[in-house]
Amino acid sequence: MKNTKIREVYRQPLLVGNWKMNSLKRESYALTSGIVKYFAGIKENSFEIVICPPFPLLSEVKRALIQSKIKLGAQDCHEADFGAYTGDVSPSLLKNMGCKYVIVGHSERRIAYKEKNMTIKAKSEGAINAKLNPIICLGETLGQKESGKTLNIIRAQLRESIPSSANSSNTVIAYEPVWAIGSGKVPRPAQIQKVHASIRAELKILLNEFEAQRTRIIYGGSMNSNNGDELLQLADVDGGLIGSASLTVKSFCSIIKN
Ligand code: PGA
Repeated sequence: MKNTKIREVYRQPLLVGNWKMNSLKRESYALTSGIVKYFAGIKENSFEIVICPPFPLLSEVKRALIQSKIKLGAQDCHEADFGAYTGDVSPSLLKNMGCKYVIVGHSERRIAYKEKNMTIKAKSEGAINAKLNPIICLGETLGQKESGKTLNIIRAQLRESIPSSANSSNTVIAYEPVWAIGSGKVPRPAQIQKVHASIRAELKILLNEFEAQRTRIIYGGSMNSNNGDELLQLADVDGGLIGSASLTVKSFCSIIKN
């Protein structure tokens, strides 16, 4: 089967809006309602859409998602389920609040909170135990890219961040070059495809051929309505993790419209 055909059969495209530390209560309801309205007519199963607001907005976004197929996600979680972890949020609570997904290992957290692969692995494991799907983020810095280390870095991050309980139905991988996030710079499509294919090859070793073909690998880093169309057509790109462009109805929804 040709690569693009394999994708159509096995991997439902996934679009995730990562709002980061943006929006307030009323805006979050309006933005979500606008997205819900826009996608109300979308062909069943043609795309899975997820919105990841800041923690305190989860209920408000959930309220706006009532009757919609759009899913709720969070931007991080703790690895443990309960305990004395001031300021942290557990996978079970996120599940309880209606989340289906949680982003883990975003480079902003890897950098600001010095999160290591082993922490990300523990968080992913905690999420899977709570029946929450981790979206495990991987990405090289500009320095690593310029010294030709991208593939080695990404494969090592994957090997060390993915828990043994991961499979294609409970885990998503996101490739997000650190230098592309919020910068307006995007790798050449051929380069993105090369990295995604290499992630899939590594998944074959870590999981197996069957799971590797079914695991969704999404791209993030300055994806928008101008480049989304081209990137989403790449054989091993199964969707997008969208930051800035997920903050208005028009910019988020037009990525798919294209
Ligand atoms: P961006 O962010 O789309 O604004 O580059 C993506 C992300 O950080 O997930």
